[in-house]
Amino acid sequence: MRIVLMGPPGAGKGTQAKRLVEKFGFVHLSSGDIFRAEKASGSALGATLAEYMSAGKLIPDEVVVEMMAKAITAADAKGTGLMLDGFPRTVPQGEALDKQLAAAGKPLDGVVVITCDDAPIISRITGRRSCPKCGRVYHVQYLKPKDDGVCDDCAGIELVQRSDDNEEVVRDRLKAYYAQTEPVIEYYRKSGQVKVVEVDGNGTPDSVTEVLAEAVGNLT
Ligand code: AP5
Repeated sequence: MRIVLMGPPGAGKGTQAKRLVEKFGFVHLSSGDIFRAEKASGSALGATLAEYMSAGKLIPDEVVVEMMAKAITAADAKGTGLMLDGFPRTVPQGEALDKQLAAAGKPLDGVVVITCDDAPIISRITGRRSCPKCGRVYHVQYLKPKDDGVCDDCAGIELVQRSDDNEEVVRDRLKAYYAQTEPVIEYYRKSGQVKVVEVDGNGTPDSVTEVLAEAVGNLT
């Protein structure tokens, strides 16, 4: 199964994708994680990506499409299904993805949108912390680790905050979402080629997982 997971920043895409992977066995491909890994590698490309990310702006389509096409080909070769998180984020990215999947004869099975109001998004994003070793995501209030500031799974590793997780940048990320990414949902709806479902992401993490897992199960 190949699924695109969409939603505004902080809707819970990364949190929920990890839970869905455990249930359905997909490969979870997060464009944000791929770009952050490139940034951490210290490459010239990573430095360019970082400029866009720290400003809350979208990285240019041609760069994104090339990097994601390679990652998708490698991940899809595993044959366990794909959950794309954060890509596509513009209509041209959606068109490029459709072209790649059509050429491989492996179309999308569904687009799942996690909706969320703006107010909880700000507090979710500013309170997010993650483990620099395993990537597990926590929240200072809503999803706390057992010991303050330390990963539950990696003994002694201190949690960190993403550099783009401050209120000013989140507001810019939200603007980019409404202007450039929401039209992608309409693009898929109009295509009539793929099921588009919306799940309310305003509830607790566990209640969202329950509804989301049912929605994904119904796509098969
Ligand atoms: P990316 O990393 O994709 O960030 P994003 O889309 O802004 O999404 P987030 O990771 O912030 O949120 P999420 O929905 O995964 O929330 P999470 O589950 O962590 O992109 C970063 C940047 O990279 C972009 O700004 C852009 O510059 C660039 N980029 C990436 N892809 C691109 C593309 N295709 N084209 C161009 N540029 C691109 O949850 C957030 C917090 O809330 C956590 O602390 C979590 O514990 C908590 N939480 C989760 N669910 C709940 C809940 N139900 N209740 C309470 N708390 C919750």
